[in-house]
Order: sequence, then structure tokens, then C-alpha cells
Amino acid sequence: MNKIQFKQKLDEYRLMAERNLYSAYPLIDDEYRIISEAARYSLLAGGKRIRPALCFAVSDMICLSPSNVMVFACAIEMIHTYSLIHDDLPCIDNDDIRRGKKTSHKVFGEAIALLAGDALLNKAYENMMTECLYKSDCGYLAAMKYLSDAAGDHGMIGGQVLDLLSEKKEISLEQLQKIHAMKTGAIIRAAIMMPVLIAKIEGPIYDALESYASVIGMIFQIQDDILDVTASSEALGKTAGKDKKYNKATYVSLLGLEEAGIQLKKTGNRALIELKKMDLMGYPVDFLQELTYYLLERKN
Ligand code: IPE
Ligand code: IPE
Ligand code: MG
Ligand code: MG
Ligand code: MG
Repeated sequence: MNKIQFKQKLDEYRLMAERNLYSAYPLIDDEYRIISEAARYSLLAGGKRIRPALCFAVSDMICLSPSNVMVFACAIEMIHTYSLIHDDLPCIDNDDIRRGKKTSHKVFGEAIALLAGDALLNKAYENMMTECLYKSDCGYLAAMKYLSDAAGDHGMIGGQVLDLLSEKKEISLEQLQKIHAMKTGAIIRAAIMMPVLIAKIEGPIYDALESYASVIGMIFQIQDDILDVTASSEALGKTAGKDKKYNKATYVSLLGLEEAGIQLKKTGNRALIELKKMDLMGYPVDFLQELTYYLLERKN
């Protein structure tokens, strides 16, 4: 697969997510319509859709139709979007721009932004549970359980708490890696593992994909830390330079920019090793290989 074919496929996955997200949280025709407007404002603001794309790519790799994971791929993007709305609140990272637009609390006020996050989280589970009831298959329930663990206090929420507790503190690289694995890695791991659970695939490919997923989550957050100091707010669609401003513990604050880049490359090599294992098991890994390069080189 060359870069052009990769880009086409990634765009195809993104479009698939985009179309389905449009109907995943419908507008409410009642006095409290504002909550659906706020939820849709952030959800349809055009993120990179990396998590649904990972979900679709793994489905394709294990010969599961992406339509089987659609509700779950959208649910993960809804949970991710809620986490961004809350992450941007004045009481957490206090950000004014997200996905190239004003943050939810800047447009709707803090109370509605808080509730829009809650509503997105709830709708994600509502949609997944409806799908589980319809499919009546334990693979779908296992996928939802994996995501709920990843999004909860032992995953993303716990990571966000550690992130806040580490502001203005000197922490070890090990502790930072734990924060990154929890606040960002857990949800990315769920995006990769949900199709595997739905397809009820076990054994070496399960383990290799889970290891790959952990490494990819780390790559994603190291690059996020690097981009905060190297990219412009325009390119990122969010305020650049805010980690330093808020004394966040990041790869750059801990190791410096150059060493953060070296660690990123090393982590990239670990991801490629996991893909090689899957290749040797006979799975087509070309898209995930290109996606790994893309995540190592992304500019926003
Ligand atoms: C930003 O995630 C928050 C992190 C977990 C680093 P993304 O960079 O995927 O944000 P969007 O979805 O493209 O806006
Ligand atoms: C956020 O990490 C991770 C979440 C769970 C939302 P960051 O605080 O680094 O994300 P950005 O840089 O604001 O997108
Ligand atoms: Mg944060
Ligand atoms: Mg933030
Ligand atoms: Mg960041």
C-alpha cells in the first residue's frame, strides 16, 4: 500500500464515521433542544476520527465487516468528544479553541458544556446497549465492557486525575507513561480491541493487537505533547503552547524536545515489531503500518 492508497482508505474510514456520527446523536425536538445542539456542535466539528478509523481498520484486517462495529466506533468517538469538552473546561485545561472552533463552554456556557459531555457519554452507552439487545450476542457485550473499563476510573478518567495531580510537579518517566497509557492509551486500545471482541478472536493475534494498541496510544500522546510546542494553534485547531503555560507533565517538559522525538521513534519501532508478528501470522497489516507512520509524522 502506497501513501496515496493509504490516504484514500483513511479518508474512506473517516467519511464512514462522519456519516454515521451525524445520526448517532439526533437533534431533540423539545424545549431542552439546546443539549442536542451542544452535543452535535462538538461531535460534528471535524476531529481526525482516528479512533473510529482504527476500529474499522482492525475490522477489515480480521475480516469483520465494519458495519458490525459501526455503533461502537461512533460510541468511542462520542466518548472521546465528551472527554475533550470536559478537558477544555476552565476547571481542567481551560481551553478556548477545539477542533478549530470555540470550545463548548465558550459558546454554550459551562453548565451546558458540562451537560453536553454527560449527554454524549450517556448516548454512547444508550446506542451500544440498543445494539447489544438487537444482536443478542456476548461479543458485543464484551466490547462494551472493554470500552467502559477503558473510559472509567482505571482508564481515561484515572489518567485525567493523575494529569491534574501532576501539574507543577516533577514526576518520573514511568509515572508519565502511566498517565499517558491511562488518559489517552486506554480509549485507543478499546478502539482496536472492540472488533476483536466482537469477532470473538482469541490467541496470539489478540495479544499482538493489544500490545500494538498500547504502543500506538503512547505514540499518540507523545506526539500530542510534541505538537503542543512545535505546531501552531491554526494547524492544531486547539491552543498551542498550553502545556507549558499550565506546567503540565509531558514528554517535552520531562525530557526536552529532542529526546521526546527520540523516544517517539523508539516507540514507533515497537509498534512496527508488533505488526511484523501479525504479518507472520498471515494478517494483512499494510494499512496499520502506514497508519503507524502517519501517527509518527502527523502535523495536527
Ligand atoms: C486529542 O485527541 C486529545 C488526546 C487524547 C491527545 P485527538 O488529537 O484525536 O483530537 P481530535 O479528535 O482529532 O479533535
Ligand atoms: C487529553 O489530553 C486527554 C483526554 C482524555 C481528553 P490533553 O489535555 O493533552 O489533550 P489536548 O492537548 O487538550 O487535546
Ligand atoms: Mg488535559
Ligand atoms: Mg487539554
Ligand atoms: Mg495535549
